[in-house]
Amino acid sequence: MYPFKFKSSIVKNRWYMAAFSNEITREPMERTLLGKPVVMYRKENGTPVAMYGLCPHRYLPLAKGHVDGDSIVCGYHGFKFSDTGERTEVPSQDVVKTKFCQPVYALEERGPICWIWMGDPDKCDKNLIPPYEDFGLDQPGWDFHSPNYFHIEGRSQLLIDNLMDLTHLPYVHHHIDGKDAMAKIPLTTEDRETSYRISRNGKAPWNDYFKLVFGPEAEYQGLADFTVRSDFYGPEFMSTSLPIVTGLPDRDDVPKELGSLMILHGVTPETETTTHYFGFSTRNFRLGDKALDQFQLAADEKIRGQDVDIINAVEERLDLAVDLQRELLVQADVPAVQVRRRIEAMLVAENAELED
Ligand code: FES
Ligand SMILES: [Fe+2]
Repeated sequence: MYPFKFKSSIVKNRWYMAAFSNEITREPMERTLLGKPVVMYRKENGTPVAMYGLCPHRYLPLAKGHVDGDSIVCGYHGFKFSDTGERTEVPSQDVVKTKFCQPVYALEERGPICWIWMGDPDKCDKNLIPPYEDFGLDQPGWDFHSPNYFHIEGRSQLLIDNLMDLTHLPYVHHHIDGKDAMAKIPLTTEDRETSYRISRNGKAPWNDYFKLVFGPEAEYQGLADFTVRSDFYGPEFMSTSLPIVTGLPDRDDVPKELGSLMILHGVTPETETTTHYFGFSTRNFRLGDKALDQFQLAADEKIRGQDVDIINAVEERLDLAVDLQRELLVQADVPAVQVRRRIEAMLVAENAELED
């Protein structure tokens, strides 16, 4: 599967975003994750459950059934499965002799997100969930806002490539202020313990966007120092900051750092060639400002929608394209290539284990 040499390009041993927490209720919902239909619901005490989503009897999606206590009941012939997957009832029989367990998956609810582990259960470690303190999620002094979702008719790697390269800004996101300046700013990269970080540090004229985000109290004329950061935590999660103003050379009375607004990206393969794209933001200024929340959500949906359109168009003829022509890479592709190498190493490790 392009761009990797393996049949499957999905890294299994990761915590992927399965849903926003408020999507999972006492009504069962189905979502295909990593190529498998999964049913999710909440137990009576509110704990979320994730189970393989097709009934083993005649394969009706379990989400078409209903939740009873902590169990789920199939909507076709009434087989009942406990929250640990055990088939506990077959209504047409008094005695069920054979034991059967429907696969269940670890589902970890942390703040506004439910993470799922569908890989090797022996490797399942909650410490591998992306580090919330790094991007202000569920942290004191930070707001969570503008959650949104897109379904992509394209493989997850196309979205990862897109997020790792901001030189598409002037061409895809025509409406963004200062986009040309952004595309040419030199970047530096850093291998951190939890992420691969790309930083762009530059100067930009104070513009309408800064005014809108940071408010009139930061009124200013002249150049602002700013940094834009992208972090790759794994194929399942990335962040890109909005320009973080780190200094106003002519103004000593304005705090050096005006605030951070992080745009976060949950990337969950639905199948080998389709993707769930979960977006949301965090910020540490203008907390609780609903007008800014709304502005940010609208801006975010517009930008993500533009990226999704591009990815869908690439996927449409991707198999043909890679058969006919070699990919032409340039300097700006360095971060994306570095990230692909990291993903490739994960795939190599998982495939080697399968061969053992
Ligand atoms: S298909 Fe589920 S009980 Fe028959
Ligand atoms: Fe984009």
